[in-house]
Amino acid sequence: MSDAPLPKVVMPSCPNRQLLKGQKALVTGANSGIGRAVAVYLAKEGADVVVNFVADEAAAAEVVTEIQATGRGGLAIQADVSDEAQVQTMFQQMIDAFGTIDILVNNAGLQRDAPFDEMTLAQWQQVIDVNLTGQFLCAREAVREFKRRGVVPEVSCAAGKIISMSSVHEVIPWAGHVNYAASKGGVMLMTKSLAQEVAPFRIRVNSICPGAIRTPINTDAWGTPEAYAELMRLIPYNRIGEPVDIARATAWMASDDADYVQGVSFFVDGGMTLYPGFAEGG
Ligand code: BGC
Repeated sequence: MSDAPLPKVVMPSCPNRQLLKGQKALVTGANSGIGRAVAVYLAKEGADVVVNFVADEAAAAEVVTEIQATGRGGLAIQADVSDEAQVQTMFQQMIDAFGTIDILVNNAGLQRDAPFDEMTLAQWQQVIDVNLTGQFLCAREAVREFKRRGVVPEVSCAAGKIISMSSVHEVIPWAGHVNYAASKGGVMLMTKSLAQEVAPFRIRVNSICPGAIRTPINTDAWGTPEAYAELMRLIPYNRIGEPVDIARATAWMASDDADYVQGVSFFVDGGMTLYPGFAEGG
């Protein structure tokens, strides 16, 4: 063995470094909740951002204003992610406005909860259509553009990045929410299979799996002190997640700092997936 010293790792001082400088991002369902926080955070990290929404144009316009306040470009585009033609039009509008897409955050999602024997086909179908088929339709358009354009080294090491917003319920079964858990289980294997397929094209595909995050989708779980206390029994870290917790993880996952990360489910859940009941039981 040589006695020569190992080369030092040089960390350049770079206080204004932005993770996503010059990149173009599309965030679906970006007018509220996690999507809204992600859209604004990606802009703070240097990306121009399309704010997709299906309803509540005024809220989408507010998000665009917040994005523009960071100095980045923002554009609201209405589209139902479960509608093939609307998704294709949205991508065309984005490419016309921003030139291309580097980052897709497949965030749009909803719950239509019911006891299993009372669940209507419409409740089942809507959840699968938006949460799973919607992610498929958007990912397919993104992959087409990533393959067409390839890697642009000045922008990113990868030809494109897809972040699937999944859930702890891609692994935690959830009584009363069978449609939702089934959709997220589908998102898990869609993400991993797609990651395997497109890795040779330098397209990165990963999931973020939020736990309980303070958003309108789950107000029942945190809206009263009693509900909040009950929720804490499921969260070892003993606080609810905030949308920015997810936004930070998403920005990192989309950045070249995560360039060797492919096909993972990244849980951001305060330990919800750690079988909290076993902290004292077992
Ligand atoms: C659901 C929320 C729930 C959380 C943790 C999320 O995917 O949308 O309603 O609070 O998982 O159970």
